[in-house]
Amino acid sequence: MTPTGPVLLHLLLLLPVCLSARYFGHIAENSPVGTPVSGVLLLVGSYLNASLTGDYASDFRLVHHHGHHRDHHVGLVSAKALDREFIAMYELTVQLPRGAAAVQVEVSDRNDNIPQFTGGNRSVEAHALTPLGTELARFDAKDGDAERNGRVTFYALPESHLLHVVPQTGQVRLVRSLLGVRQVTLRLFVRDGGSVALIGDPVFLHINVCRSGKLRKPRALTEDLTYSVSVPEQARLGDLVFTVPDQRFEQRWFQLVSEADSPVQIERDSGRMYLARVLLEPAEVLVKIHNFRGKKPFYLLTP
Ligand SMILES: *[C@@H]1O[C@H](CO)[C@@H](O)[C@H](O)[C@H]1NC(C)=O
Ligand SMILES: *[C@@H]1O[C@H](CO)[C@@H](O)[C@H](O)[C@H]1NC(C)=O
Repeated sequence: MTPTGPVLLHLLLLLPVCLSARYFGHIAENSPVGTPVSGVLLLVGSYLNASLTGDYASDFRLVHHHGHHRDHHVGLVSAKALDREFIAMYELTVQLPRGAAAVQVEVSDRNDNIPQFTGGNRSVEAHALTPLGTELARFDAKDGDAERNGRVTFYALPESHLLHVVPQTGQVRLVRSLLGVRQVTLRLFVRDGGSVALIGDPVFLHINVCRSGKLRKPRALTEDLTYSVSVPEQARLGDLVFTVPDQRFEQRWFQLVSEADSPVQIERDSGRMYLARVLLEPAEVLVKIHNFRGKKPFYLLTP
């Protein structure tokens, strides 16, 4: 038996306190009062007088764990429910009679913020011949949580077959023709990316579909009908620019009167019109529908 054993042990117990030790701990936000900060347990030997200093140090309490002999530890517990959105990282110091230990406490995020739209209900006007793909509105939302918990996703409920909500951006795009539609109401929601997603209050988008003077609602089939279609400059070759509305003809097919210089092509059976030439500027295409009694109707298109 040699006396070096107990002496070494004694030194070890004192070391963490004498050197300026650093500790890093974390605690989940909104944990109940008295929740231990994990990762922080200071070996304080026989010193029972420890105090905690630093900004907002009163958010924590020191707790002593009495071991045998001189084997005492101090740990930290929360003294209130903590809010990461207020303080995410505490820089504290545990003062002991013979030294100090720096303690950083990170408040880890808990998904406790419900995402919210930054604006309220909205009402927009859209022309009945608005090209497909057009952005009719854009919604934004905020969520105070960090990372995934704060990442918002937009969606409509019930879904609309006319409109698509881009989940990441909140854009509302037209995906079907508005012809024959007077008003569309979309109920939009926003949810976050928490493992149990939080969902904010919905907002409503009202789209009033207007029909300009040029655009007459198809009535009698004997009338000539004219539609004016706006083709945006950014339209690309092959984009669908217009679909001839269903006139309930018994038989119908479509063709261009002068195919050579037309900026569009039309599908013979469906009446879908595609951009066939690069536009240098936004263009208006006039679609004129002639109906010949007893004959098959056809469509005249003039750029
Ligand atoms: C603890 O602190 C008090 C007041 O600061 C002091 O009177 C006492 O002697 C200290 N005890 C120890 C064991 O250091
Ligand atoms: C939004 O519209 C809905 C339905 O019309 C209504 O119940 C709600 O109160 C509106 N919200 C606001 C903030 O105006």
